[in-house]
This record gives sequence, C-alpha cells and structure tokens, in this order.
Amino acid sequence: MSTQQGPRGEAPGNGPLAPRTRTRRDRGVLRTKSIEQSIRDTEEPEHALKKSLSALDLTVFGVGVVIGTGIFVLTGKIAKEQAGPAVAVSFVVAGVVCALAALCYAEFASTVPVAGSAYTFAYASLGELPAWIIGWDLILELALGCAVVAVGWSGYVRSLLDSAGLHVPPALSGSHGGHFGFDLLACILVLVITAVLVLGMKLSSRVTTVVVGIKVTVVLLVIIAGSFFVTGANYRPFIPPSKPTPAGGGLAAPLSQLLFGLTPSHFGVMGVFAAAAVVFFAFIGFDIVATAAEETRVPQRDVPRGILGSLAICTLLYVAVSVVVTGMEKYDRLSVDAPLADAFKHVGHPFYAGLISFGAAVGLTSVCMILLLGQSRVFFAMSRDGLLPQVFSRVHPRFGTPHRSTIALGIVVAVVAGFTSIDVLAELVNIGTLFAFAVVAIGVVLLRRSRPDLPRAFRTPFIPAVPLLSVLASFWLMLNLPAETWLRFAVWMAAGFVLYFVYGQRHSRLASRQRQRDAAGARP
Ligand code: ALA
Repeated sequence: MSTQQGPRGEAPGNGPLAPRTRTRRDRGVLRTKSIEQSIRDTEEPEHALKKSLSALDLTVFGVGVVIGTGIFVLTGKIAKEQAGPAVAVSFVVAGVVCALAALCYAEFASTVPVAGSAYTFAYASLGELPAWIIGWDLILELALGCAVVAVGWSGYVRSLLDSAGLHVPPALSGSHGGHFGFDLLACILVLVITAVLVLGMKLSSRVTTVVVGIKVTVVLLVIIAGSFFVTGANYRPFIPPSKPTPAGGGLAAPLSQLLFGLTPSHFGVMGVFAAAAVVFFAFIGFDIVATAAEETRVPQRDVPRGILGSLAICTLLYVAVSVVVTGMEKYDRLSVDAPLADAFKHVGHPFYAGLISFGAAVGLTSVCMILLLGQSRVFFAMSRDGLLPQVFSRVHPRFGTPHRSTIALGIVVAVVAGFTSIDVLAELVNIGTLFAFAVVAIGVVLLRRSRPDLPRAFRTPFIPAVPLLSVLASFWLMLNLPAETWLRFAVWMAAGFVLYFVYGQRHSRLASRQRQRDAAGARP
C-alpha cells in the first residue's frame, strides 16, 4: 500500500516530494534516509503507532515533563551555591537557549512527523552516523534524566512518609554521602510508569493531565501565596560578588574557566552563566514533544504549537517562582533538598510546605513518565531502522505501543535509578541535550538546502541566523559545565561509536535497501 505513494499521495519520482537523484552521500556512514522513506516506514502496519494526540495533549506533555526537579529542587541549590537571587536571570538565559532550539525543533517536527525526534531529523539531513550519535546521545538524556528525577521523587516521598511517622530503612533509601543503599521507591516508580506506558498513549496522556494539573496548581500557589512574604532586602546583593572555588576544584570547574585561564570561581556574572548551564536541566523535556509527532493527529500544525506553548508557559513559571523564593528567604539560607517547601516553613506556614511537598512528589511522576516515553520512542525508531535489534520495534497488537522497547528500557532505568545519586548525572544529561540541540539546528539549515521543496508547516525564522545562534548558545552553555562532565560525555560517545561499527552499520535497513536496489540495477 504505502510503498506505492508518497506521504501526501504523490507517486514516487513524480511529485514535489520525489526523492533526489542518488549522490555519493547516499552511501556509507553518511547515507541519509529520505523524508519519504521515514514517513512510509511509519505506515507499515506492524510498525505503525496509534495517532491519538492533539496540540493540547502535547502542551500538557511538555509542561508535564519540563516542570520537575529543576523548579522543585535545583532552584535552591543553584541560588545558594552559584547565582544568588540572580538565579532568575540564569533561568532566563537557559530559557532563551531553549527557545532558539525550539524554533529549530518545531520546523523539523512539522516537516518530518516521525517518532525519534532529533535522531530522525539527523537521519534525514546529516546522515546515518550523525543520526546514530544523536540517538545514542538521546539515550543519555532521556534514560538517565528519568533515573535522576525518580531519585529526586523518592527523596520527596520519603520526607512525606517521615512526616507521617513511616520510615523507609536506610538500606532501601539510596546512596547518601558514602553510605551505599538501594533506592527502592525510585525503582518501583519507574516500573509502575513502564506498565502505564505499555498500556497505551491515551491512558498515559490522561494520567499526565491529572498530574500536570496538580503540579501547575502547586507552582501557582508558590508564586501567589509566596509573593505576600517577599522582603526587598533579600534581593541585595542581586548578583553576589564572585568568590574563588576552594582549592582542589580542578576538573569540577566549568570548562570555560579552565580554557580561558580564569581562576575557578562561583557567583559573579560567570556564576550566573554556570548556573544557567545547570538549571538548564529544568527545561529539558520540551524537545520530547517532538518525539510524539508520529502519534499526533495533525502533526504539521500541532507539534510546533505543543513545543513552543509548553516552553513559554514553563519559562514564565520558572522565573516567577525563582523571584518569589529568593525574595522569601535570603539565598544563602535556602534549603538544598526542598527549597520551595522550606521557604514556607521559614515564614511560618508549614501547611503550605506540606502541600508543596505533596505537589512535588506528584509532579515528578509525570516528568519520569514522559522522559521514559520519549526514550522508548527514540529506541523504537532506531530499532525500526535496524541500527538496534529490530525485535524492539514490534508494536503491541492490542495496545498499539512499542511494548518491547518500553519494557526493556524501563527495567534498565529502574535498576539505574535504584543505584544512582542525582548530582553528577544531571550535568551529564544537560551536556547530552545541548549537543542534540546543536545538531538539530545544523540539520535544519542543511535540510533547507538539500530539500527546499519539502512542505514545511512551520518555518524557523531568520535562517541561518537563528540556527547559528542556537548552535553558539548551546555550545556556550556546554562550556559552562564542569570539565569532568565533558570527560564522561566523551567516554559515553566513544562507546556509542564502537557499538555503531560493531552492530548498527551492519544491520542498517537503509543500507540493505540500497544493496537490494544496487543488485536489481546490476541485473541485465
Ligand atoms: N525538566 C525536568 C525537570 O526539571 C527534567 O525535572
């Protein structure tokens, strides 16, 4: 059926979407998968996902994943240790970097409405190896991000249980300060979410809507109730003066400071940028809206709306929350574990503090769920292309979801969440995501050149200025991450290269199609 027609009904080789004449780039590790082929793959019955999502569902997904650990946990830690009240500026900086990337994601998602997000975009524009690199990189972002948030969630739930007089044994409360333990709650959360995702997108979307409602209500409560307790003196100094990092900070200092020969320091203007690179974690997720493009009823219109809408809502809420919280309590006294709840305890309102802890615990579940959803879709797309074993891309006959990739990843993430502590991994997640942003921005420009004919329901404005700025801004934030994060990222990517040449390159469906075409062409 679908092999006879292009995505909008044109016969191959005939319409405006006709594949290009084959070039040298179509071979080897830089072979690109045509947009038409990507869309045709989604139409194969055994690989087809159910199309059930609207722009509102996507916006809810976006808000559901973006507002999480960043706003509930990182705001306090970063204000206290790196930026002071200027953490609000760090949120604006990170938000601008994301907005530039969002404009590029929106064009790509509206042109290539196929599961897999940046991975699929890169396959269509840059070639197979860059696509593999991005897919591998997204595994870092989404799977580790999910594990990090699950651990944050378990901390909030333990604190709520403690208040109710129920205590989880230390051996099952995760690792803390040299003490080793298994995080049972984090592990259970991931397994439950996996089950929900296997049962179907619509169910997950309903669960998410309720959870997001509770979370946004709690965030608005912080902004509105908290604004009555703001004291102007807490904003002075707005940007605390720069202080040298204690000796031995070395590799823990931002790479930018080491490269430019600056003494490693925190606070000051550089501190605001270093803080932006960390609070960036709080924005991760809007790009995941693009991974659901294939399950959207009208992706050309709704995916850009979902991406840009969720990013705009979250940026506003973030800036407002950070301004209120740093106004309620002096930055150097903010709590590191539960800053929003503790700010209310500090002004004598423990009832609000309890509500906020409850909202955080509920809110973080939706973050975990959507990160895992995005991850299973990227894994699904890579497997459908043969770069990972194809057994993972069979869709469940009844639920219409990629159950195998979801279950396999859910189990791995549950184990990682059980054994992982938050801090180091969050920075690794950030560097991986920023790298994906840069590749997507480059891909948009390349695809405009190679396929100007494609229908684009959303067009990134001011090409090539916006993508170029997006690459520079993402790279600048990456430079503001610690040098040791760069080292860990390099090791992860090296492992990905090995896997591609050992497995992916040999099993690529695109390569085998080309071989078949070549063989057919060679026959007399
Ligand atoms: N943006 C998500 C969070 O803040 C990952 O938890």
